[in-house]
Amino acid sequence: MGEQTKPSGHLVVTIGAGPAGIYGVRKLAEAGHEVVIINRDIKPGGLVEYGIYFNKHKLKEGVRIQFRKILADPRVRYLGHIKIGAQADLTLDELREILNPSAVVVACGAQGTKALGIPGDMTEGVYHAKDLVYYFNGLPEFRRRDFKIGERVAIIGVGNVMVDVAHWLVHEKKIKEVIAVARRGPAQRAYTDVEIQAVAANFDTTALREEIERVRPKLEAVGEDIEANYKDLTKHINTKSKEGESPTRMLFRFLSAPTEVVCDENGRLRALRVENTELVKRGESLSAKGTGEFYDVECDTVVFAIGDRVDETLGLPCTGVEYFKNPNPDPDNPGDESYQVFDPETGKVCTGLFVIGWSRQASDGVVGRAKLDGERGMAVVNRYLEKAAPGSAENLNEKIAALQEFLQSRGVRLVDYSDVRKLEAVEKQESQSRGVEFFKYFTDEEMLAAIDRAND
Ligand SMILES: Cc1cc2nc3c(=O)[nH]c(=O)nc-3n(C[C@H](O)[C@H](O)[C@H](O)COP(=O)(O)OP(=O)(O)OC[C@H]3O[C@@H](n4cnc5c(N)ncnc54)[C@H](O)[C@@H]3O)c2cc1C
Ligand SMILES: NC(=O)c1ccc[n+]([C@@H]2O[C@H](COP(=O)([O-])OP(=O)(O)OC[C@H]3O[C@@H](n4cnc5c(N)ncnc54)[C@H](OP(=O)(O)O)[C@@H]3O)[C@@H](O)[C@H]2O)c1
Repeated sequence: MGEQTKPSGHLVVTIGAGPAGIYGVRKLAEAGHEVVIINRDIKPGGLVEYGIYFNKHKLKEGVRIQFRKILADPRVRYLGHIKIGAQADLTLDELREILNPSAVVVACGAQGTKALGIPGDMTEGVYHAKDLVYYFNGLPEFRRRDFKIGERVAIIGVGNVMVDVAHWLVHEKKIKEVIAVARRGPAQRAYTDVEIQAVAANFDTTALREEIERVRPKLEAVGEDIEANYKDLTKHINTKSKEGESPTRMLFRFLSAPTEVVCDENGRLRALRVENTELVKRGESLSAKGTGEFYDVECDTVVFAIGDRVDETLGLPCTGVEYFKNPNPDPDNPGDESYQVFDPETGKVCTGLFVIGWSRQASDGVVGRAKLDGERGMAVVNRYLEKAAPGSAENLNEKIAALQEFLQSRGVRLVDYSDVRKLEAVEKQESQSRGVEFFKYFTDEEMLAAIDRAND
């Protein structure tokens, strides 16, 4: 990996081993810094492991190969199965105290939940897409949960996450209906052509035509070409899914903003109440404005697929869906400020504390974008370290041993990268003996037992 630079004497701790963190640490190592990368999950990869749809084996394995090269670098030490946060295995302050690094980079993705706060949203049968996605991709904490999925599932939002959830409902659960609920029109959908092909054959085109006619006057009012819209929307309906046929009808409701989850007299979820909207120009884009008329989308399950927010329990100052970043432009390197954590109480930048990837901008883009953001962010860290006093990389083995001891006293078992490689080898062997393309354990206990077996 990369060129071998003279050791800088700096230790940098990165929290989170998703694409932003892993691709990012390569830039730190190349600059000669020692890196410790701490990760909540036993396995590295973040959403590559537990978000990208589980049957995209080639894509996932292609990225894993790159990750393996980076994590095998002797300047990078991976420590998994450690959750940082207020109620977690270790607080941010404890981590800093034990390892005493020159800088900490938060690359934890967007683990918080973005809620609309509408009445009824705590009803059984209302879920957040991320939780479901983590479930069907086998992230242990979520795999244990009991998701009650009915026959008519309304998904709020029309991005690629909606498509992934619909994909699972259509091809694995084979339920009666999936209803994608969009607050704006068909032309403002956020999903991509490549992804929708997984479920396009299940579009109910009669219902779709009716829905387009229902909203036609409002779309025409903002100059939209209805027939072009319809043609574009339905261009993949003849694409057969690789997973075969499914009886599920895929429906859409446009110009519909959720206002309430409605229950029957027994408290069972029976509908999603929405407000009709119209499109209004706001600068260059069109936004949804409620008309004051409401109707019910009949369903028994509701999934919010409206993006995520950062984890406010991590220990960084938080504003709405994101962490506070330096609001003052950096005069020397414009743009650097958006990677620097800021404390609104003191009105100062938190020295040596940075954010990258989805922790910097929640739910923003694909793996390639997270990679770019991780690399850009680490360039900011490298510039910061050029002016910082070195020395934090000294006695690193002792510091890591102290961290391990501290965690052990709390009953936490950390794993290192050699453990991950052993686990991967066991899972590979398991997939071969079962004759499946890919096999993975769904619990931490099974993963740790597999590592122990490999050690015997
Ligand atoms: C459902 C879904 C499907 C997607 N599919 C695709 C796709 O097919 N193709 C594509 O290119 N992009 C896809 N993306 C987008 C892509 O996954 C993201 O752009 C990318 O993973 C973001 O990277 P990240 O490193 O910022 O965060 P993440 O990937 O979320 O990684 C965060 C890491 O931080 C760790 N962590 C979290 N909290 C803590 C904590 N408190 N302490 C310690 N560690 C912590 C986690 O264990 C994780 O390893 C998908 C996204 C989603 C939500
Ligand atoms: N296969 C893949 O490549 C893949 C798979 C999954 C995810 N991803 C990527 O991951 C990122 C996140 O995806 P995402 O689907 O979570 O986000 P997204 O693409 O931003 O879509 C979010 C959807 O939720 C809607 N929404 C947001 N707030 C809402 C509200 N208050 N009320 C009603 N609707 C609301 C948005 O509508 P408005 O447009 O009206 O705001 C939009 O339709 C994206 O960049 C996506 O491409 C990629």
